[in-house]
Amino acid sequence: MLQGKTVLLGVTGSIAAYKAAQLASDLVKLHADVHVLMTKNALNFIHPITFETLTGHKCLVDTFDRNFEFEVEHISLAKKADAFLIAPASANVIGKIAGGIADDMLTTTLLACTCPILIAPAMNTRMYENPIVQENLEKCKKYGMVIIEPATGLLACKDEGKGKLPPVQMLIEALLKEIRFEKDMQDLNVLVTAGATMESMDPVRFITNHSSGKMGFALAQVAMQRGAKVTLVKANTTAPVPSFVKCVNVKSARDMYEAVRAVAGSMDIIVKAAAVADYTPAEVAGEKMKKKDGELSIPLKRTTDILAYLGQNRRAGQLLCGFSMETEHMLENSAEKLTKKNVDMIVANNVKVEGAGFGTETNVVTLITRSGVTELPLMSKDEVAGRIFDELLQLRSKKQEQEKGLAEEIKKLGDESQETEEIYRGEKKTEEQQEDVTTEQQSEGAPKEA
Ligand SMILES: Cc1cc2nc3c(=O)[nH]c(=O)nc-3n(C[C@H](O)[C@H](O)[C@H](O)COP(=O)(O)O)c2cc1C
Repeated sequence: MLQGKTVLLGVTGSIAAYKAAQLASDLVKLHADVHVLMTKNALNFIHPITFETLTGHKCLVDTFDRNFEFEVEHISLAKKADAFLIAPASANVIGKIAGGIADDMLTTTLLACTCPILIAPAMNTRMYENPIVQENLEKCKKYGMVIIEPATGLLACKDEGKGKLPPVQMLIEALLKEIRFEKDMQDLNVLVTAGATMESMDPVRFITNHSSGKMGFALAQVAMQRGAKVTLVKANTTAPVPSFVKCVNVKSARDMYEAVRAVAGSMDIIVKAAAVADYTPAEVAGEKMKKKDGELSIPLKRTTDILAYLGQNRRAGQLLCGFSMETEHMLENSAEKLTKKNVDMIVANNVKVEGAGFGTETNVVTLITRSGVTELPLMSKDEVAGRIFDELLQLRSKKQEQEKGLAEEIKKLGDESQETEEIYRGEKKTEEQQEDVTTEQQSEGAPKEA
């Protein structure tokens, strides 16, 4: 995920410094080139050898260290950095950054950085809530730095409150949001649905399906990392929910329909990856249904087809993408949905194909649009999500070009009909009439023959 990215990791004199070792290790596993810069006080909490072993680079502490080969180290590092993450950030370092002080390797390099800077404060609650610290954080924010909100809980000093370094996974997600992708979906409103709906039969039992929500979550995460404002309507799932998306929890197909309908109007792109029940029990028993001898049949009724509803009620320029899970005649069935439900793209997959479908980390899908069919090989759900949005963005720019052409055509027709009306009313002359006038004027002005 961070292949080709250089990440500077700043570690300061906070008790949470030991967690930075896990952070450095996880960043390396994501293929980032990690360089650790420590303050002198951080050396009291963790040894640089830990970071040097994990990252394969010398850990930088002293600005005036002559023990390197070439270049002014803090400038060359700042130039090649894609991000500078300070985790944990002490109250002292936050104050220095806010004040523009550069008296060690970490703060000097930071001043030379033009890449995204992320600060993860970690300290005792009283220190964190101190108005001076808060003002310093505000100042850093004002200068465009990202402040990662500390977690609340039991602190090392046995106090309870806000100030803990958030879990390493959260820090990584904050970093990925900033630097993983180009922001080619900046500020687009994207709605993703995910998970399996649950249709209650009685207070104890329900009907559901095997969807894990992983495909929908990958879509939500990729769109968010590409700069979109993502709303995730999620039913029952087993996968971890992505950060930085607005999450709406639902249970049944009916709940999902209501939640989607409430927000659909403001969306630029809607991707429906949830596995929504087609049928729900006609009646939900108020009490637990008692076991009896013999077989049991439960009458089911149709649920609302959310994709069809969206196709019928879409606003101009909105892109609609549905998923189609088939076990036979995948292409024919999916292509039919494209026209029948008035959508722009159907992502078809066959659960019977190895590596595709429910619960897996991978998928094998075919993207079906009005202009063609693209079969994708086995890839991670994350990569599939990327390809889906690539295709949707292409469709979006094509649509926008068509709409622009149409608007110009309509304007031209409007101008022409106005001109005809003016000529009809005698307010304007036709080209022929104008020519006649010019010829008359010329002949009036011409010297008379003797
Ligand atoms: C045991 C111990 C734990 C500390 N934990 C923190 C902490 O979590 N956050 C913080 O801002 N300061 C903490 N401090 C205070 C800092 O180490 C101190 O302010 C130091 O000057 C910070 O230096 P630096 O910002 O250059 O790394 C701690 C100090 C000690 C002795």
